Amino acid sequence: MKSKVTVVGAGNVGATCANVLAINEVASEVVLLDVKEGVAEGKAMDIMQTAQLMGFDTVVKGCTNDYAQTADSDVVVITSGVPRKPGMTREDLIGINAGIVKSVSQSILEYSPNAILIIVSNPMDTMACLAMKILGLPSNRIIGMGGALDSSRFTYYLSQALQCNANDVQGMVIGGHGDTTMVPLTSLATYKGVPVSKLLSKEKLQEIAKATMVGGATLTGLLGTSAWMAPGAASAIVVEAILRDQKKLIPCSVALNGEYGLTDIMIGVPVILGKNGVEKIVELELSEEEKEKFAASAVAVRKTNEILKEMNLV
Ligand code: 2OP
Repeated sequence: MKSKVTVVGAGNVGATCANVLAINEVASEVVLLDVKEGVAEGKAMDIMQTAQLMGFDTVVKGCTNDYAQTADSDVVVITSGVPRKPGMTREDLIGINAGIVKSVSQSILEYSPNAILIIVSNPMDTMACLAMKILGLPSNRIIGMGGALDSSRFTYYLSQALQCNANDVQGMVIGGHGDTTMVPLTSLATYKGVPVSKLLSKEKLQEIAKATMVGGATLTGLLGTSAWMAPGAASAIVVEAILRDQKKLIPCSVALNGEYGLTDIMIGVPVILGKNGVEKIVELELSEEEKEKFAASAVAVRKTNEILKEMNLV
């Protein structure tokens, strides 16, 4: 079946996302769009020159700010805006990114009124909230991808400690996609079905949770800009769950309407993703400590959301 994905922003994250979508043949067509003349075209061409090497049939096209080319996309990934530099938090980016995400998401909807939107731009939960408030779409169609990325980082750090393959580890991170707002669910993480709490000490698990929470900042320090391999792949995995109607359980930032005792917020919780986007919000039994951390995370996310009002964006 034909399917079309647009990735807005052909920077590191957007281009990596498009590349993973192509290599895994998640969609028949991927359109990369960027404001910088020629960049999306160049990155698309570079990806297409790997088609024979990697053996994929997905067609990747690039365009400069030409939203007509994105028309009738099934899923749109929004990565637009600036990445953080060492020492910055994701929240520091709101001043620049909020206006960009607002205009991009409005332009996208003009040409793809039925698309499901995946928000990647930071601060991610607040950018997803912004899109939700200005676009008036049903809540199943706006998804922030942070939890998919943070959970993958969590399983990476767990696998390093367990000296095993990350594929054998299951773990989830809920809460906001911020250095202090993530809530790695250590109590529910397993290695081949065995709770990791039986295999690693409490201190080690705390260390892993901390490393996960600052996982993006660690990479920003090493790279001089924010990471792109895992963020791009995590975004592609969210798209895949939707287009292939996988009914996959992935933590994502979604609008809550009473779940976890919260309303009027977008924050990371486990959801089932399928052809309709968010098909179900899964309510987990959290420990008292996790409940407290999740509640504090929601307070912090709301505080960042308040800035949207101060900026007159919502
Ligand atoms: C990260 O955590 C870019 O927010 C993204 O790397």
